[in-house]
Amino acid sequence: MARAKIALIGSGQIGGTLALLAGLKELGDIVMTDIIEGVAKGKALDLAQTAAVEGYNAKLSGAGPENYAAIAGADVCIVTAGVPRKPGMSRDDLLGINLKVMEQVGAAIKQHAPNAFVICITNPLDAMVWALRKFTGLPANKVVGMAGVLDSARFSCFLAEAAGVSIEDVRALTLGGHGDDMVPLVRYSTIGGVPLPDCVKLGFFSQEQLDAMIKRTRGGGGEIVALLGTGSAFYAPAASAISMAESYLRDKKRMLPCAAHLDGEYGIKDTYVGVSAIIGAGGIEKIVELALDENEKAMFDKSVASVQSLIDACKKISPALA
Ligand code: LMR
Repeated sequence: MARAKIALIGSGQIGGTLALLAGLKELGDIVMTDIIEGVAKGKALDLAQTAAVEGYNAKLSGAGPENYAAIAGADVCIVTAGVPRKPGMSRDDLLGINLKVMEQVGAAIKQHAPNAFVICITNPLDAMVWALRKFTGLPANKVVGMAGVLDSARFSCFLAEAAGVSIEDVRALTLGGHGDDMVPLVRYSTIGGVPLPDCVKLGFFSQEQLDAMIKRTRGGGGEIVALLGTGSAFYAPAASAISMAESYLRDKKRMLPCAAHLDGEYGIKDTYVGVSAIIGAGGIEKIVELALDENEKAMFDKSVASVQSLIDACKKISPALA
C-alpha cells in the first residue's frame, strides 16, 4: 500500500513538532513548507537524519517559499501558517493578518490538494478554519480545526495533577470556541469513569479548586504565551493535531472535540465551533450533539456568539467570504 502524504503548511515550532510526531508514528511521507527560505528544507533534513536514530520509515522533504506545488496530492494538510500572538495580545488580534494567510493557503490547497483532509491550527482558530474552508472550496467534512483536543488536554492535565491520579484515567471535555469563553464540561469529564461533580464529593479536590482549573484551562494558551515570551505553545497543539490526522488516516473513528462545521446542529448554521465529532476515513463522519443543560447551553451559546462576531469580521475584510 502506498504511504500517505502529509503536507505541513508552516514549519515553525508547531510544524517541526508535527513532522517529528508524524515520523515517529509512521503516518506517512512528510512534505514541509514555509515562507522563510531554508526553514522547511533545513527541518526536513534534520528530521530525516533523526529517522536514522529513531528508526522510523518516512520520507521527509522541504519546499521553499511560494512552492505550494510540493503539497500536490497530499492526503492530509496541516496548516500552521500565520502569526502567533505575543504576550498581551488576544488570539482575536491576529484575525486581519492571518486571514490573508488563509486566503493564500486555501487557494494552494484548492489547486494542489483538493482531496486532502485539512486540519487548521492558525488563530483565531474557529474563524480561521471557517475562512479556510471557504477559500479551499472543500466539503465541510474534510476541513476541521484543532482546538478541542488541546483545550481538553489542558483541562485533563490540571485535573490529574490536582487529584493525584494518572493522566491515563482522566477524560476531560471542552466544547465551544477556542477563546477565553470556551466551555469545559464538568458533567462530561471523568476521572476513572467518575464525573467531576462526584469527584468533588469524593474529596479529590474542592469546588473552588475545580473552578480555578476551569479558569486556568480557559486561559491555558495565554499562560504559555506569557511564559515563553516569544511565540505560543507547540508540543500539545502538534500532538493534538496528529491525533486527528491519525484517526483520519487509520480510520480509527475516534470521537474527539474539534472545531467542525455546524449546519443545524445545536441550532447553529454555517459556523465552525468546538463540538464532539467522530473522525474516520470519511473525514468528520458524525457530529455528536450532546445534551446540554441550561447553564452549559448558555455558556456554549455565548462562546458561539463570540466566534460568529469574528466570522462577521472576516466577511467584512474579505468580500469573497460574504
Ligand atoms: C494555544 O492555545 O496554545 C494556541 O491557541 C496559541 C495561543 O495563542 O494561545
